[in-house]
Amino acid sequence: MRFYLAPMEGISGYIYRNAVHDFFGDGIVKYYTPFIAPRPKKGMAGKERRGLLPENNRGIPLVPQILTNKAEDFLSLSEEICDTYGYEEINLNAGCPSRTVVGHGKGSGILKDTEALDRFLETVFAKAKCRISVKTRLGMEDPEEFVRLLEIYNRYPIEELTIHPRLQADQYKGSVRMDDFCKALDQCKMPVVYNGDIFTLQDYREKMQYIKEHCRRSVCAVMLGRGMLRDPALARELYRSDQGGEDGAATKEELRAYHDSIFTSYKALFDGEMPLLFHMKELWASMGGLFPDQEKALKKIRKSGSIAEYLAGVHEIL
Ligand SMILES: Cc1cc2nc3c(=O)[nH]c(=O)nc-3n(C[C@H](O)[C@H](O)[C@H](O)COP(=O)(O)O)c2cc1C
Repeated sequence: MRFYLAPMEGISGYIYRNAVHDFFGDGIVKYYTPFIAPRPKKGMAGKERRGLLPENNRGIPLVPQILTNKAEDFLSLSEEICDTYGYEEINLNAGCPSRTVVGHGKGSGILKDTEALDRFLETVFAKAKCRISVKTRLGMEDPEEFVRLLEIYNRYPIEELTIHPRLQADQYKGSVRMDDFCKALDQCKMPVVYNGDIFTLQDYREKMQYIKEHCRRSVCAVMLGRGMLRDPALARELYRSDQGGEDGAATKEELRAYHDSIFTSYKALFDGEMPLLFHMKELWASMGGLFPDQEKALKKIRKSGSIAEYLAGVHEIL
């Protein structure tokens, strides 16, 4: 299987991507930027530009993602990104479930008005100079919405369709809707990427087994998000297990090096201890799940008010 690192706003910036790629990159063939929302008057933010610079993404096959429901904004930003930085594929975010985003008809909110979605894609595909892929949910309220959505998606040369088999209304609650995923997969004309709720090797095997048993088609790749935050070696583990080869699980030494690489890069980027502490604690909010028997040290990390206290907690665990 081919594995992709999911876009994760606020987390999967170039520092995080580089650490994953350097220490656990085995099997990951695409990395996505967090969404970039066009700002026609102001242009891209410095942080967004830094995230796209080729020198910040050496050896990383990167796909920038755009969040908008305005075709002209999508086209001008994608053209700028491709012309300036040399990218060849742009991903459309049609999956973000956040109420604010959806309220503006963006992210999975773009799935609400199917006529408008059709016009959006028609304009984009008529004029786009690079390949366009789409990351979608099954709909807003009802999985049956996907029948109409697919009629539309199937009319356009979408490079790949990544499906997170939940509805906007589901947010991240409940189980992924595997049955509806299979119905969708079988009807899709383009290559389909599976995305959702893979945190362990067992989750991966169960989802792939389900697809094998219930779908007539297979997926072209699996996109991993929160599972990679919890265990940065997850993709490597799944990849090596597919190959029937060595154990891909992270060693403590690797996790330490991964942690230190992110810590050092963030330290150089941020002014003062607080933003650094904030970002490192955010990382541990997920990675802590790898250390269920280290609650005391994890609490030390969570409660730390200084870098010295934070590092004391980290040393205990790693
Ligand atoms: C903190 C966070 C930020 C996210 N940001 C984005 C984003 O910028 N663009 C996007 O398409 N999806 C975003 N997502 C959704 C993920 O890409 C992914 O679809 C979702 O987490 C389900 O996959 P998973 O179960 O493997 O985590 C985000 C998810 C999380 C948890």
